[in-house]
Amino acid sequence: MSARVTPAESPPLWLVAPFFLAAPAGLAAAGVIIAGANSDSFAGVNLPRNLAIVHALVVGWVTTTMMGATYQLIPAVLGGRLFSAWLVRLQFALHVCAVPVFVWAFYHWDLPLLEIGGMMVCGSLVLYLANAVLGLARGSRPGVTRWYVMAALSFLLATGGFGLLWVMAMRHALFPITFDRIAAHAHLGLLGWLGLTVMGVSYQLVPMFNVVRGTEPRFSRVALVVTVAALIAFAGVMLLAPPRPVRVVFAIGLAAGPILWGLDLLRLMHHRSRRNLDVQGRATYLSLTMLAVTIALGFTVLAMQVVSPERNNTHVVVAYAMAGVLGWMGTMLIGNTYKILPFLLWYHRYRPLVGRAPVPVTADIYNDRAATAVLASHAAGVAVLVLAALLENTWLLRASGGIFAAVAVAHLGTMLHMFLPKTSSRPMAPATRPLVAR
Ligand code: HEM
Repeated sequence: MSARVTPAESPPLWLVAPFFLAAPAGLAAAGVIIAGANSDSFAGVNLPRNLAIVHALVVGWVTTTMMGATYQLIPAVLGGRLFSAWLVRLQFALHVCAVPVFVWAFYHWDLPLLEIGGMMVCGSLVLYLANAVLGLARGSRPGVTRWYVMAALSFLLATGGFGLLWVMAMRHALFPITFDRIAAHAHLGLLGWLGLTVMGVSYQLVPMFNVVRGTEPRFSRVALVVTVAALIAFAGVMLLAPPRPVRVVFAIGLAAGPILWGLDLLRLMHHRSRRNLDVQGRATYLSLTMLAVTIALGFTVLAMQVVSPERNNTHVVVAYAMAGVLGWMGTMLIGNTYKILPFLLWYHRYRPLVGRAPVPVTADIYNDRAATAVLASHAAGVAVLVLAALLENTWLLRASGGIFAAVAVAHLGTMLHMFLPKTSSRPMAPATRPLVAR
C-alpha cells in the first residue's frame, strides 16, 4: 500500500529543514498567549485571544511543518518534482513574515492589519499550492497518500479563500460573519487540510517506519471518500444556516472518516514487525488516543447542543478543538519530525560516506530519549489544557501554556541537535540506503 521511497529524489536539505526549524515558533507563540490567558477564554470561542492562539497553532505551527513534510514527500515518495526551488524559498520567506503579522492582528483585533496579514498568508498558501500541485501533477507513482494530499490541498485553498473573504467582509462591512460561516471555514481547515494530510501521510509513514508487513489498510479509500463527502456537505449546509437537527446529522458524518482511519492504524500497528517502539511508534499510539478523546468531546458538544441549546458550552468546544489540533495532529507531527529530518540529514550528509567509513544510522542522528521526553511533555500539556477547559480553571490553562512554550523550545533544541556531527553506533554500515534500527 505505501509507495516506494526514492531517497535520490529528495530535495536539498536546506529547502525543507527551515520549515521544520521555524514551525515551533508557532507553538511557542500559542503557549505564551495561553500562559497569559484569563477566564475570558472560556466565555466565547471567537474572542481575539482565542483566534490568535488557534491561528498561531494551525497556520504557524502545524501548517508550516506540513509544508516542509510535503515538500519532502512529493518528490521522495510520491514521485513528483517540485516546480521551483526558488519559489519554495520565496514562499518560506513570505510565510515566516506573514504569520506574526496575522497572529498579532488577531490578538489586537486590528482589522486593517488582519486584512494585510491575511493577504500575506494567502499569498504564501498560493505559492505553496502552486509548487505542491504542479509537483504532484508531475508525479507518476500511484498510491492512496497522493489522493489524500491532493484532497487536502484543495481544502487548503477553500480554507484560505473563505478565511480571507470573512476578513474582508468584516473589514468592509460586506455581510455578517455568523458562527455557521466560521464553523464552515474552521472545519474545512481543521479536518479538510490538517486532518486529511495527517491521515494520508500516516498511511505512508506508519507502515514504513514500523515495518508493517503482510497486511494492508482496509479503509484507506473509504475513509477518504467519506471525509471529503462529509466535509463538502457540512460546509455547504453550514453556509445555508440550517436548523439544529440538520447540523447534528452532518457533524456526525465528519467523525466517520477519522474513526475508520484510526481503526486502520491500530491494525497496522498491531501487525508491525518492529516490536520495540521508537518515538514515532509511541507518537502514533498517543495520537490515536487523542483522536478518541477528540471524538468523544465532539459528541459531548453535540449532545449538549441538543439537550440544552441555551447553555454556553464554549469550554467544551475549546477542549474539543485543542484535543484535535494539539493532541491528535500535534503528537503525530512531533513524532514524525524525528524521522523525516534524520532521513534527510542521513541522505545528504552521511550517505556519500557509505562503504568508506562507519556511518551513523538514522536512529543515531536523533536522541530517542530526548525526543520521547518532548513527546511526553507535549501530551502532558494537552491533558492539562483539556482538563483546564473542562473544569474552566484559568490556572491550569496558564500552566498548559507554559508547558507548550517549553515543549516548543525543547522540540527545536532536539532538532538542532540532529545537525551536530554524529558517529555510528555500529562498526560498519554496508548498506547503500538509510538503515532503520530494529
Ligand atoms: C490554513 C488553515 C486554517 C485553519 C485550520 C483555520 C482554522 C480556524 C478555526 C478553527 C477558526 C475558529 C476559531 C475560533 O472560533 O476560535 C477560524 C476562524 C477564522 N479564521 Fe481561520 N484557519 C485557517 C486559515 C485562515 C486564513 C488564511 C484566514 C484569513 C486570511 C483565516 C481567517 C479566519 C477568520 C476571519 C475567522 C473568524 C473570525 C471571527 O470569529 O470573527 N483563517 N479559523
